[in-house]
Amino acid sequence: MINILAIESSCDETSAAICRDGKILSNFIANQTVHERYGGVVPELASRAHMQNIVPVVDSALKEAEASINDIDAIAFTQAPGLIGSLLVGGEFAKSLALALNKPLIAVHHMQAHVLANLIDDPKPSFPFLCLTVSGGHTQIVLCESPTTMKVIGETIDDAAGEAFDKSAKLLGLPYPGGPLIDKYAQQGDPHRFKFPEPKIEGLGFSFSGLKTSILYFLKNAGKSNLFKEEFTATEEEKAAFIKENLADICASIQDRIVTILLNKLKKAAIENNITDICLAGGVAANSGLRKALQDMGTKNGWNTFIPAFQYCTDNAGMIAITGYYKFLAGEFSDLSVQSTARAEW
Ligand code: KG4
Ligand code: ZN
Repeated sequence: MINILAIESSCDETSAAICRDGKILSNFIANQTVHERYGGVVPELASRAHMQNIVPVVDSALKEAEASINDIDAIAFTQAPGLIGSLLVGGEFAKSLALALNKPLIAVHHMQAHVLANLIDDPKPSFPFLCLTVSGGHTQIVLCESPTTMKVIGETIDDAAGEAFDKSAKLLGLPYPGGPLIDKYAQQGDPHRFKFPEPKIEGLGFSFSGLKTSILYFLKNAGKSNLFKEEFTATEEEKAAFIKENLADICASIQDRIVTILLNKLKKAAIENNITDICLAGGVAANSGLRKALQDMGTKNGWNTFIPAFQYCTDNAGMIAITGYYKFLAGEFSDLSVQSTARAEW
């Protein structure tokens, strides 16, 4: 029996999980509410909150799994990438525990863990598979050949998909994070009512900054054009009235464009690599339009599609634990001198 304790603290969630032989027994997540009034994560406050949360979160994960700290065979932690102050709290805690318990330490790459969240529940994808990881900080297509062999084959050159949702929502006057609100309003709207451009990016790259500019002018012109044109510029009152009357259709049209940008590249990657097991990961995988479009595209193209349960899509230690388990099996351990890093190449 192999028991892994995993710790995730890369951004603003303090999380701990227990994995036994590849099964997640607990996945405890403490969300930090301290950032709400700032409209984004404040790194210094995040580090302090991790310091306060880490001991009770690890305790809760052990209790929920009905495990004792003495049952643990290895300690896995998120080593990179993320906010350095946040990573250090989880990293140094994991190292101290490994030293005190005299158990091996496993350093985990946060983005690889997002991909391997697809190996937590059944049915699981077969190797090789592709994963589209979409979060507030990342947009990547990953070719995964084994739990410990994967490479990024497509990536955004500017904003991440989650940022595209959040920045669009901000332009519409919606609170942060606006992604879930766009999803909610889009469900009542017509996705084909308004047209936003699809960027022409070579290969498997993504770009969302052009879409943001196009939405900005579209709203400034109260829907008359996507372009900068002096003669169309609306007053603030006209703009507000246009948004109010058309919110559902605007949200549906924006969401539809973000989803088609993502899935057109995913389809290209699947064809080029001749792969039929296709996964989603990251917080944006919660988007109902993306989930449905992936399933439809899968049915049309004969793919097997996989989306992790929501608790394993947003930042969580369950995904660190499953990655730690496979690294344990592969004998990939780190020594106590391993350093947390904000950025990390694959
Ligand atoms: O993975 P995540 O929880 O955090 C990191 O960025 O690491 O992702 C958060 C992102 C935010 O940009 C949020 O707006 C977006 O995921 N998001 C959504 C939905 N739920 C969360 N975007 C669109 N539709 C949703 N239902
Ligand atoms: Zn993440």
